[in-house]
Amino acid sequence: MPDAYILGIESSCDETAAAVVRSGAEVISNVVASQIAMHQPYGGVVPELASREHLRAIVPVVRQALVEANQTYSSVDAIAVTQGPGLAGALLVGISFAKALAFALDKPLIAVNHLEGHIHAVLLEERQKGNHEVQFPVLALVVSGGHTHLYLAAQKNQGWTYQNIGHTRDDAAGEAFDKVAKLLGLGYPGGPIIDRLAPQGDPNAVKFPPAQIKHRDRRDRRGAHEVEPDLPRFDFSYSGIKTAVLRYVEVHDMHDSIEKRRKALAEISKPSLENYLANCNKQTLDLVASFQRAIVEDLISKTLAAARAHDVATLFVTGGVAANNELRRTFEQKGAQEGLPVYFPSRPLSTDNAAMIAAAAYPKFLGKDFAAMDFSAEASFVLR
Ligand code: KG4
Ligand code: ZN
Repeated sequence: MPDAYILGIESSCDETAAAVVRSGAEVISNVVASQIAMHQPYGGVVPELASREHLRAIVPVVRQALVEANQTYSSVDAIAVTQGPGLAGALLVGISFAKALAFALDKPLIAVNHLEGHIHAVLLEERQKGNHEVQFPVLALVVSGGHTHLYLAAQKNQGWTYQNIGHTRDDAAGEAFDKVAKLLGLGYPGGPIIDRLAPQGDPNAVKFPPAQIKHRDRRDRRGAHEVEPDLPRFDFSYSGIKTAVLRYVEVHDMHDSIEKRRKALAEISKPSLENYLANCNKQTLDLVASFQRAIVEDLISKTLAAARAHDVATLFVTGGVAANNELRRTFEQKGAQEGLPVYFPSRPLSTDNAAMIAAAAYPKFLGKDFAAMDFSAEASFVLR
């Protein structure tokens, strides 16, 4: 089989990304233009601004990915692009550009589910390390700003299939990190900031009640949602812990100190850990550490319960929150105790990137599973 060089394009949220990957096994180039600084003053992604910024960035980002890979528009073998899920306007920028390239260059066009991309980030890097033998069944936890999903992943002919056995009923785990950081005046995005601050606090200082899921998910219908009704389910819920943090802030009268911190940090262009620490008292650090511990423990206990119930051989943990230090450390520890190998992407491939899109496209390239020119963005694209 000759090598295939696939150009991947990703624009589903606040990163404009392009990459060239060889045969799903080697990152040749990986360019990510982040819009974080632009969305920071709003404490979250503003969809209109995101689309406009993607339009500005897409041409130079793709060009840079090709130059860094020593490739040209005409030398790549296929063009892969994220179809969804994500922000419709943002997705359309990548899709329109990819379609135009594929049409003009007469190259195959491959549409990729963003969540499948996160899963293939793990496979890509395992292959890059020389590990070509992943043991099945595989359970993948995809945990990011927009998603918290558990998928059983299987290989079928040349392609992959996925069964959803758990998802969040409300907020995604990364969303909880972002909302709590915003609430505490720590800035955006919250995950990386909380990750750095948590080791400075006492994770046992504040007790959060475990997330409770009482009723059946009313969306649990095949077709209307992505769940498999006959399989044991392991759902998540993170809006309760966010409300618990808010209540803690109110009960302990923390509003004034939060406002002071928000203003102080807003005046520093790129606050360092020292800047954050100078503006956080022990109570805040303890709250942050306890919040992170609660999320990490919940993600790990549910994922390991799902792994046991489905008797899986390998666990993948991927998506932006997979960059979290405590999550990685604890998953590795607990996985080792259960004899379950746990694979993560490197940190740059945990958060959104296009190498994962080009990697997920490779099995589709082999299976000639190409997209028609009239496909469109799917904001709530289901992974199956
Ligand atoms: O995968 P991603 O880049 O975009 C989505 O598909 O959502 O994930 C972004 C999310 C944000 O919520 C961000 O706060 C979170 O991942 N995140 C982290 C860390 N780095 C990014 N959460 C916890 N710890 C981190 N180190
Ligand atoms: Zn993502």
